[in-house]
Amino acid sequence: MTDTHPDRYCVIGNPVAHSKSPDIHAAFARQTGQHIDYGRRLAPLDGFADVVRDLIAKGYKGANVTVPFKLEAAAIATRLEERARAAGAVNTLRFVDGEIVGDNTDGPGLVADIVQNAGVALAGKRILLLGAGGAARGVMLPFLQQGPSAIVVANRTRKTADTLVADFQDQVTRVTACNFEDIDGSFDIVVNATSASLTQELPPVPSSAFTETTLALDMMYGDAPTPFMVFAARQGAATRDGFGMLVEQAAEAFLVWRGVRPDTRELLTTLRTK
Ligand code: ATR
Repeated sequence: MTDTHPDRYCVIGNPVAHSKSPDIHAAFARQTGQHIDYGRRLAPLDGFADVVRDLIAKGYKGANVTVPFKLEAAAIATRLEERARAAGAVNTLRFVDGEIVGDNTDGPGLVADIVQNAGVALAGKRILLLGAGGAARGVMLPFLQQGPSAIVVANRTRKTADTLVADFQDQVTRVTACNFEDIDGSFDIVVNATSASLTQELPPVPSSAFTETTLALDMMYGDAPTPFMVFAARQGAATRDGFGMLVEQAAEAFLVWRGVRPDTRELLTTLRTK
């Protein structure tokens, strides 16, 4: 750390103008006294690797990666942390000693939001995961590390759920796949990892999946509750959107880069109201 040259980071995406990451990391830097500069880089859809090379040439220490480059970021990494390998995707890059190290803090961010912010332990619990795409895959290892009793992965396309489940068989947790219409019983935690909320659609989850003690979490967030959150609330479940996950994945990335994990409590309330 020097007074004159802050270590540089950015978020790479397309689009990227809407990203809250620069605000979040600036707040973390102020709070922890870390001397960093964090910006935004719009990469052309066919130009992600060029942007990464340019950042390295300019002496950047790392970058976050968002839509649609998380798979490409995993491919360009010269080394992958275990959680990035399990996720098959990278949201955090470190440029160190000539290496491009790929990490994934999305799943740990979701777990931190559920366990710390919502105060809901995952050990011994029944989890229903809706969707079997990249977002769902990214949370499997962090979920399993918490020791739930069961994870049921429900997906519109059954084969994708079968493939995902086959990759995450576990000694402690019963991990199974099904279609939405075969979802059986109720769950302690229901996570919407489908992209249905992007188009204001409700994944066809039965009302019987929820009870009044269920935590229903949508990975998406916006100004209004998603159709999934509205449906879950109608069944009496507590609901959360993906805003906490966003802040917590950033805190995990900050930890990866700077060795210190910021306190997220204040930011969770102040940034949402902006
Ligand atoms: P992401 O990276 O956000 O996970 P993805 O890998 O394209 O994106 O995966 C999207 C997920 O949302 C898939 O599980 C998809 O189901 P299919 O595998 O059947 O395509 C799911 N999905 C998208 N729209 C949906 C909808 N309207 N209802 C239910 N599931 C939906």
